Amino acid sequence: MRIVTIVGARPQFIKALAISKECAAREGVEEILLHTGQHYDENMSGVFFKGMGIPEPKYRFSLGGGSHGDMTGRQLTEIEKVLMAERPDVCLVYGDTNSTLAGALAAAKLNIPVAHVEAGLRSFNRRMPEEVNRVLTDHASTWLFAPSDAAVQNLANEGIDPAMVHRVGDVMYDVTLMFQEQAKDTTFLQSLGLAPKTFAVATIHRQESTDDPSRLLAILGALSQLASEMPVILPVHPRTHKVMEALPKADAFAKKLMVTEPLDFNRMASITSHAALVVTDSGGLQKEAYFHRIPCVTVRDETEWVELVEMGWNRLPKSLSQQHIYQSMQEALVAPRGDDRHPYGNGSAARSIIDILQDSIN
Ligand code: UD1
Repeated sequence: MRIVTIVGARPQFIKALAISKECAAREGVEEILLHTGQHYDENMSGVFFKGMGIPEPKYRFSLGGGSHGDMTGRQLTEIEKVLMAERPDVCLVYGDTNSTLAGALAAAKLNIPVAHVEAGLRSFNRRMPEEVNRVLTDHASTWLFAPSDAAVQNLANEGIDPAMVHRVGDVMYDVTLMFQEQAKDTTFLQSLGLAPKTFAVATIHRQESTDDPSRLLAILGALSQLASEMPVILPVHPRTHKVMEALPKADAFAKKLMVTEPLDFNRMASITSHAALVVTDSGGLQKEAYFHRIPCVTVRDETEWVELVEMGWNRLPKSLSQQHIYQSMQEALVAPRGDDRHPYGNGSAARSIIDILQDSIN
């Protein structure tokens, strides 16, 4: 079985840590990696290809930046050329980025079947570029690998043939288990002068958070309020960095926080697992917080990972005002631990995905 896997953005490199490893360990599976270059900085991309277990991509492009249409269009053109040359049995895509949609669309038009890892997630907010990408990708896919029951239900509601949907669990849980030991390590914490459970970790990068200055300022304002009670580490994504530089008030808030560059996976896993609280607009970090059983506040109007809210591990502020965000953080810090029902499988998603693909292809 020959798979062309499309990656481009940081969360996809993280998911590839599990699936590329599984492919490499299998007889009769050849994985060809294509990196679109959507993310290109050393700390957003480079670090994942250095000794972490993802093979060097056979194809590496520089197709990041620009508007959504421009970026997706350029990616579509180049991915199509590769798929025409390689003619794989499967084109595998992850998640909901522009690289995901470009890969799925290029393959579907060439009648190359698409495998979508992290299928069925929905925010029901079509203003998010990710929501458009994931809906279209799901409807262009042949194998839809869903991480949760809610994702399976969403696909059923959209009329997708249930025979194409496989509830395999979340590949991010596989990755969390693979990096358990690294997550326990406290070397990085010590270098920051921090003791376990005495600080919060925050990440903000979504377009919906950064493109509206009042929303970004409300989030940063609430974080700076929290920072008078406990240190708050904010590894800053390039998108957020650019916006913050242009907003003097954001800069003033940031001075109260421990602002760092984007962190590599080991250091991120370590500070997440030792935090007292996680505050984020990322999909991946909401789950990683739960995998380490750390309470989380998601600074968005809605989340795709609804189980975590139901279980009490994650909470959405009543509104995205500074006051309500801060109130949610306070509640999360004192709330009892959530329940423990493992909605995302048992850490064998990568194995199930490759099993299912091999069974269908051979
Ligand atoms: C993208 C995904 C989002 C995912 C996120 C993970 C889309 C629509 N969005 O958002 O779903 O959660 O990745 O991080 O695909 N930039 C750099 N260096 C980099 C990467 C980006 O400077 O290494 C700059 C880009 O040039 C751009 C901005 O950051 O100006 C945003 O990057 P982009 O890839 O468009 O979207 P993300 O916000 O990263």
